[in-house]
Amino acid sequence: MSTDVYKKHFKDGFDLDTSSLPSPLPFIGLSKQILPNAILYEMPGERALLRTSLDLLFKQFRLTQSLKDTGASWKVWRVHITGISDKDMMPMRRRLLRRVANIHPTLNNMLDKSPLTRRPLAPGEGLLQWHFIGPKLCYVSLTTPAIQRYFDRMLSGYPGGASKDFMERLRAHIAKRQGVEVDSLESSAEELFKQRLPSRSYLKLFELEMRYPDFFAHMTEGKTVADLGASPGGWTYFALEHGCRVTSVDKADEYDPLVINFPSEQRQAIQGDAMEYKPTQPFDWLMVDMKVPPMTTLALLKKWLESGWCRRFVVTLKFEGDFMVTMETERYIRDQIAPLTSYINAHSPDHGGKEINLFGLLK
Ligand SMILES: C[S@@+](CC[C@H](N)C(=O)[O-])C[C@H]1O[C@@H](n2cnc3c(N)ncnc32)[C@H](O)[C@@H]1O
Repeated sequence: MSTDVYKKHFKDGFDLDTSSLPSPLPFIGLSKQILPNAILYEMPGERALLRTSLDLLFKQFRLTQSLKDTGASWKVWRVHITGISDKDMMPMRRRLLRRVANIHPTLNNMLDKSPLTRRPLAPGEGLLQWHFIGPKLCYVSLTTPAIQRYFDRMLSGYPGGASKDFMERLRAHIAKRQGVEVDSLESSAEELFKQRLPSRSYLKLFELEMRYPDFFAHMTEGKTVADLGASPGGWTYFALEHGCRVTSVDKADEYDPLVINFPSEQRQAIQGDAMEYKPTQPFDWLMVDMKVPPMTTLALLKKWLESGWCRRFVVTLKFEGDFMVTMETERYIRDQIAPLTSYINAHSPDHGGKEINLFGLLK
């Protein structure tokens, strides 16, 4: 996310006061969990962690209560402690709740006390999170109702992050597109993409569009798309369905009949090395989905952004290897890619492999 957007929100967005605390990071995002404004807390002991958390909680609660009719006030709140075993977590949680009960009866009355609540946050709910990353190292994060609204797009509406209505929507889409009854379609994703789609990769874009509709709303009729590493054509098909004009580049020259059936004015296939491909005119979209190391894809993306060859992009980074690969990749995105963009985001789709999709907009 652009830090400007984030800063603006909190300038106008009224309910975050961390002036007395160590400076918060924009947010810590794990693939299925977000910790907004997380403060990394190196604990001298549990009491200090408790004090910081309750201070944050009470202060934010007081602040938001004064903002009537803004959707900022709380109805319910709860606590999540993650990163440690249930055995260690339960007594810690009890001590935290006991302190709240002793000090703040109003918040105590609003507390959802069921420890294993896995349902998603509802509007008007608050969430205090402790996420341990070491025996004495813990992120403290408070999601207030207003912060929750801001992060809504990124947060899954479903426990565990999986999108439950994905299959329903995919089947309805395919049925409509291919002019068949929904009930006549295969019911598993595996069978469905084998029988009805050019490739499994299609599912990644379908899911990303469900999760980030605003970003994909720019993939519209007449837009030009370069699809690098395109065969057998799942991503190309996705863009063609949106009415785009697609140039598909791949070493292979094999495309699914679903792709080939589109009129030739709408699509062009170039057989060759995608790393060497140089467009004669800028594209509206760059898509890259190649089985190459993440740094290779990122270097290619950087070249495209620096050359102004695309406006929007969505690329797949496939991770194989150790932690060093992840760190190197993260650093490269932060230092080399993000400065070239005005918006950047990443998601690891339920329907992808060991990979993330990076997408964004040229500066
Ligand atoms: C995972 S498949 C792509 C799937 C495709 N995006 C889809 O939606 O169906 C990876 C493709 O990248 C192609 N590829 C890998 N390296 C390439 C390169 N340097 N130049 C062109 N194509 C390449 C492979 O030939 C392969 O077809």
